[in-house]
Amino acid sequence: MIPQTQSEHTRALCSLAPVIPVLVIDDAAQAGKLAESLISGGLPVLEVTLRTEAALEAISAMARVAGGHVGAGTVLTPEQVYRAKDAGASFAVAPGATETLIRACEDASLPLLPGAVTASEVMQANEFGYDMLKFFPASTSGGAAALKALAAPLPHVSFCPTGGVTPENAGNYLSLPNVVCVGSSWVAPGNAVANGDWAGIEARAREASQLRNR
Ligand code: 3PG
Repeated sequence: MIPQTQSEHTRALCSLAPVIPVLVIDDAAQAGKLAESLISGGLPVLEVTLRTEAALEAISAMARVAGGHVGAGTVLTPEQVYRAKDAGASFAVAPGATETLIRACEDASLPLLPGAVTASEVMQANEFGYDMLKFFPASTSGGAAALKALAAPLPHVSFCPTGGVTPENAGNYLSLPNVVCVGSSWVAPGNAVANGDWAGIEARAREASQLRNR
């Protein structure tokens, strides 16, 4: 299917691999190597959180690495939407959803993965045309049991649970029909990035890329 809507774009991206690494990058000089390690390990969809000074420069560097799709995470304002787009981000992730943010992403043609947890938040996102949503913070919002319960009245909605997802519980989430992928920092934690542990990051990426097959 050729994606038509923003949500179809993010659904297609989320379908590429079972895990989206959530990355906090302090030094943009490491971004290229980090992206290469993750993509080589089988995780082509990457989220760089806009929580550090280096984030936008890191996105630019990672966007130049072949085979990847680099998104901006923790996008909260229209200004961040436009700056992320200019930096080369191919999608945006937000912890929640506001009409202001949704409109800015549509104006910038930056596909958005908006956050929602409750049935009302999911329904509000649906009203804007979004049915591929980030479920955040997953572990403290009821985890896999909550997602299973939401599937009964809202079977057309898919989720990327993020926040507290670990190698131990990722399989529980990924076994649910309404979970397309999970987001997590475990594949490339801050200390591994700071130490340039590219082999370790690639090995964790490879394991994560196989999760759905277990
Ligand atoms: C975040 O906000 O950093 C993401 O939700 C990742 O959460 P995690 O560190 O629990 O994987």
